[in-house]
Amino acid sequence: MDYKVIAIDGPAGAGKSTIAKKLSDIIGYTYIDSGAMYRAVTLKVLRENVSLSNTEMMIAVAEKTVIDFKDNSIFLDGKAVNNEIREESINKSVSIIAAISEIRKLMVNLQRKISKNKNVVMDGRDVGTVIFPEADIKFYITATVDERADRRYKEFIQKGCAVDIQDIKSQIEKRDHIDSTRADSPLKAASDAIMIDTTGKSIEEVLEEVISHIKIKGGGIVVI
Ligand code: DC
Repeated sequence: MDYKVIAIDGPAGAGKSTIAKKLSDIIGYTYIDSGAMYRAVTLKVLRENVSLSNTEMMIAVAEKTVIDFKDNSIFLDGKAVNNEIREESINKSVSIIAAISEIRKLMVNLQRKISKNKNVVMDGRDVGTVIFPEADIKFYITATVDERADRRYKEFIQKGCAVDIQDIKSQIEKRDHIDSTRADSPLKAASDAIMIDTTGKSIEEVLEEVISHIKIKGGGIVVI
């Protein structure tokens, strides 16, 4: 059987994971959140009190870490860490760890391994450029920094957290900068990616746009 890969890349807060999850539900593919893996390594680094300037130690931590996905959960050394990897401390540190080549190599191997013999929708920064340059269809989903900051701000407010929108905006800008200027696999659109700017669009509108590029045919997909 010929397995398919749908790659969805783009900057933080552009709505990639929401779209990827919904799309995978609709077409019955497995959703893989590649960023969650970098987050899990970051959680372990922070738990072990390793300094973010000690690259060798961070690599050593990553090498002895077991990451797995099961039933929509991510497991770090056998324990589900879905909520822990979304904490602010992780948001602030993950880009530093994701810029380390040796850690990227480990993650890319794992990302390819867990996608084997499956139809997958994977979201991240380098899915269409590095992990699966031969992906069947690639999307690059983006939005202005102001819109992305505004979405994050509303999510926090809904959860009852008091946050400053300027802080959120500068944190997003910082992550964009680190992710797109790192030497190894920087955030960028693959030359054959379909570009979607989600600024001012609802999730439903974006999903419709994504699906308009995909024709569902008995579990398989063909690019229109
Ligand atoms: O998508 P996210 O915010 O959960 O990603 C967390 C971090 O991991 C982000 O700073 C970029 C990095 N990342 C990456 O370098 N490559 C990927 N394929 C996915 C995420």
